[in-house]
Amino acid sequence: MNTQRVKDILRLEPQGNVLSVSGWIRTKRDAKNISFLELNDGSCLQNLQVVIDREAFEPKSALDLMQTGASVEVSGTLSASPGGNQRVELTARSVQVIGPAPADTYPLQKKRHTFEFLREIAHLRPRTNTFGAVARVRNAASFAVHRFFQERGFVYVHTPVITASDAEGAGEMFQVTTLDLDRLSKGGKPDYEQDFFGKPAYLTVSGQLNAEIYACALERVYTFGPTFRAENSNTTRHLAEFWMIEPEMAFCDINCNMDTAESFIKYVLAEILSGSSEDMEFFNLRIQPGLIESLQQVVDTPFARVTYTEAMKELQSSGFQFEFPVEWGSDLQSEHEKFLTEQVYKGPVIVTDYPKEIKAFYMKQNDDGKTVRAMDVLVPRLGEIIGGSQREEDLTRLEARIRELGLREEAYWWYLDLRRFGTVPHAGFGLGFERLIQYVTGMQNIRDVIPFPRTVKSADF
Ligand code: 4AD
Ligand code: MG
Repeated sequence: MNTQRVKDILRLEPQGNVLSVSGWIRTKRDAKNISFLELNDGSCLQNLQVVIDREAFEPKSALDLMQTGASVEVSGTLSASPGGNQRVELTARSVQVIGPAPADTYPLQKKRHTFEFLREIAHLRPRTNTFGAVARVRNAASFAVHRFFQERGFVYVHTPVITASDAEGAGEMFQVTTLDLDRLSKGGKPDYEQDFFGKPAYLTVSGQLNAEIYACALERVYTFGPTFRAENSNTTRHLAEFWMIEPEMAFCDINCNMDTAESFIKYVLAEILSGSSEDMEFFNLRIQPGLIESLQQVVDTPFARVTYTEAMKELQSSGFQFEFPVEWGSDLQSEHEKFLTEQVYKGPVIVTDYPKEIKAFYMKQNDDGKTVRAMDVLVPRLGEIIGGSQREEDLTRLEARIRELGLREEAYWWYLDLRRFGTVPHAGFGLGFERLIQYVTGMQNIRDVIPFPRTVKSADF
């Protein structure tokens, strides 16, 4: 007799199999002489029904400890369930309560809790249906991400978390230091020579610049790691710490970049729809009606592709009153992104060729002198899910842009070297992993698709 997972037990043919299983009690229901435990071990959404004959059960004191939240190990016999809700059930021979969970203090009782409340108990929320399902889908999605790139000959490169350069040039970085801030605050300027790295250092906002180094040697690479942004955006789609997938490809232009991004999203969605069907049906039923159908449609339909200028014209001619201005040169706000994906194109849209002023320094400049070869992938419900571009591979133009923006040229000497020695057209993009999980699960708030969210004034757990 060995301990099995609920997911596997539920698939067995009930033939009087003797087995044991462990997990947490979700609920207990008492009938006349019988108690029913709903046992969950996180291996799948569904619980295993455990049947206990109270008359015969010893010790009787253990019966009282079998309450919501308690951890137990059960041994028994698997049989066909006469009740209509499940195919099989386990008739207990023995139940050992390993860790009780007193009903008067255990916060997760049978009722439905709000996501806001569950955020305050992030140490217990994975024991709910929703957060268990999010964790499993997140796991399945990361596996699919790796499979997509591995099947296509991309090399996984581990780019650094601590960096001295601002990859996006947006200045939204968390500083990393061993200097004593208390002492510093009593006067004087920081002496960075005395700091750990001998100069200011930060948590990375993107692995891209380092990925470019490896792409300019191995041709196809990707990173998948945590990134950090000290943006003061308290929205349902921003985190201070989020995971990003960043492929980078040499000998690849913006069209090849768009093709990769589109097949990448479709691949991951298709893998989840087929491999995580039980959890997806839950999201479809409880979180976002119509979810499965809409994702399947995304898999089956080519993405719309338009330039920023065309997108602006669509917005302007819509006659819709937007809160933010729709003028050539201004950035697309999330209301514009929603309008384009939900009203105009009714599906994902790839927007290219943005004004250079609203994009990062490294993007390839178009011959019009005004736009760059950027590409953002926008999706319904969420807006931007991918940001990327072809990179400027021309040394002179890149140097000029760095100077124009007042960036410290010395800090980028190695980045410029890639253009000095054997430069190639290359391109890449970044997919926000949590935004992808939001999109796939239909969860409204990004804080609910990462195990431990870090946001402004919040880094508990
Ligand atoms: O558009 P972004 O800023 O692009 C880059 O960082 C490039 N270096 C990527 C590249 O070309 N290799 O960010 C990429 C994506 C966004 O589209 C969004 O999905 C996500 O990262 N993202 C965030 N997700 C959660 N919280 C935040 N604060 C995010 N900022 C960006
Ligand atoms: Mg972006």
